[in-house]
Amino acid sequence: MLAAPKSPSRVGARHYCNIRPISPEQLQVEFVTILELSEYVGDAGLPVRRRVGFTVPVSSNRNSALASRRRINAHGPERILAKNPKTAIADIQTMTMTKNTTPILPEAKLKLVSAAEPVTGVIVSNDSCVRGKSASFVRHTEIDISGTPLENNCLIGQAFGVIAPGKDEQGKPHKVRLYSLACPSSGEDGAGKVISTTTKRVIEERTPQGKGDDPDDHRLFLGVCSNFLCDLRPGDEVKVTGPNGKRFLLPVNRDQHDYLFVAAGTGIAPFRGMIMELLTSPAQPSSSEIHLLMGAPFTTDLLYDDLFTGLATEHDNFHYHTAISRETQADGRPGLYVHHLLDQRFDEFSALLGNPRTIVYICGLAGMQSGVFQTLARHGVADGYFTTKSPLADTDPDDWDLQKVRRAARATERCMVEVY
Ligand SMILES: Cc1cc2nc3c(=O)[nH]c(=O)nc-3n(C[C@H](O)[C@H](O)[C@H](O)COP(=O)(O)OP(=O)(O)OC[C@H]3O[C@@H](n4cnc5c(N)ncnc54)[C@H](O)[C@@H]3O)c2cc1C
Ligand SMILES: NC(=O)c1ccc[n+]([C@@H]2O[C@H](COP(=O)([O-])OP(=O)(O)OC[C@H]3O[C@@H](n4cnc5c(N)ncnc54)[C@H](OP(=O)(O)O)[C@@H]3O)[C@@H](O)[C@H]2O)c1
Repeated sequence: MLAAPKSPSRVGARHYCNIRPISPEQLQVEFVTILELSEYVGDAGLPVRRRVGFTVPVSSNRNSALASRRRINAHGPERILAKNPKTAIADIQTMTMTKNTTPILPEAKLKLVSAAEPVTGVIVSNDSCVRGKSASFVRHTEIDISGTPLENNCLIGQAFGVIAPGKDEQGKPHKVRLYSLACPSSGEDGAGKVISTTTKRVIEERTPQGKGDDPDDHRLFLGVCSNFLCDLRPGDEVKVTGPNGKRFLLPVNRDQHDYLFVAAGTGIAPFRGMIMELLTSPAQPSSSEIHLLMGAPFTTDLLYDDLFTGLATEHDNFHYHTAISRETQADGRPGLYVHHLLDQRFDEFSALLGNPRTIVYICGLAGMQSGVFQTLARHGVADGYFTTKSPLADTDPDDWDLQKVRRAARATERCMVEVY
């Protein structure tokens, strides 16, 4: 039996955008709309579907298409009221004309090389990258991955895996450890053949890790993979996997954003690559405002300090700030963490953080996230970077802690957090 025609003419629309980055500045965009017209009912009693596809040229309408994709991703299919498919499409186009400040991330390739079948890289160099005679040992490790599936397929912000040789205490092969890329997406060599990371030797005294561990055993504990990596010399081989991670990335439309990078210790690794990518990799350096906030225990522990000092001298739009935790500041105040610096010198950052163009990246120790979030909330600029629910939403940021922040704060698309 035929179903009775329905009225009024309500149109359900499902629409989406296919966006393919061709280069940092160029996107291929296809905007597709699927319409369900409820007044047209087919023989089987189902609404007739009409599919309308058209392209949105990148040059004239990129923002609108990107805004549309974001909205659809965030909220799922939307329903709109329209008299006919033509006006429905017009409505969708109007809807997408809103100003977009949401970063569009490139499609990252993931896990091209698995732990089961790692590929072999060759160490190119492995040099200390601390500023002075430091109590910690950190190396800038460069690895030639040419001829492997990783070649030219890693984006800055992603990590790669390393498998140390030998077996663990259970007699099983060592598990993969992840290391952040520290080079631009084009690699250290500009051709995607040499990747790098920032490797810190894990050296500690033993502490009980579980039931039955001897509490009096305080012999030296050497992290397996970090020490293996730091020991390697040019020409040595290393098993690598990856790439990993699809969110902690630079946006495709670089110059439409400004940047605050907040790092502690080896959390600087991705920011070295990102800042190089913004300032030194392209023919035309980015004109965006770029601030790097770097935390270290002592001045001697600052990583890549020469590089960042040099870039700050060469580029007016790059600003390098350091927070040293265990040294007294020049004005006699005690040492500080990155978020304390943000707090104490907020005037320098308020315009940046109040600008909807800005993306905040946080990388390093877990505690940094709550520190930075508290500071943003205290200064009234949290909107756009993270949302909160109870109990955070109802309490003074001074009363927040890491646990509460992890439970009740959600970073938005303008805030990228990688902390461990
Ligand atoms: C996405 C991501 C990116 C990363 N990027 C980087 C990077 O760029 N650079 C970097 O250096 N690291 C990075 N790391 C950390 C890295 O993956 C390793 O966790 C780190 O190098 C330690 O590995 P390991 O094999 O040397 O230590 P492990 O042997 O795995 O030991 C790890 C920890 O276990 C503890 N431990 C274990 N047993 C004992 C014991 N008996 N007594 C005392 N303590 C014990 C220690 O605290 C030690 O720190 C990243 C991690 C992630 C998840
Ligand atoms: N992509 C990633 O996810 C990625 C990449 C690289 C590294 N990491 C992680 O980053 C961490 C870096 O460790 P590290 O040993 O290199 O750093 P670190 O040298 O121990 O610390 C760097 C600085 O951060 C300070 N700090 C300590 N607690 C803090 C807090 N709650 N908030 C803000 N600052 C704080 C330290 O101060 P004090 O020591 O004086 O207290 C020090 O000044 C590791 O856990 C590593 O796994 C993650």
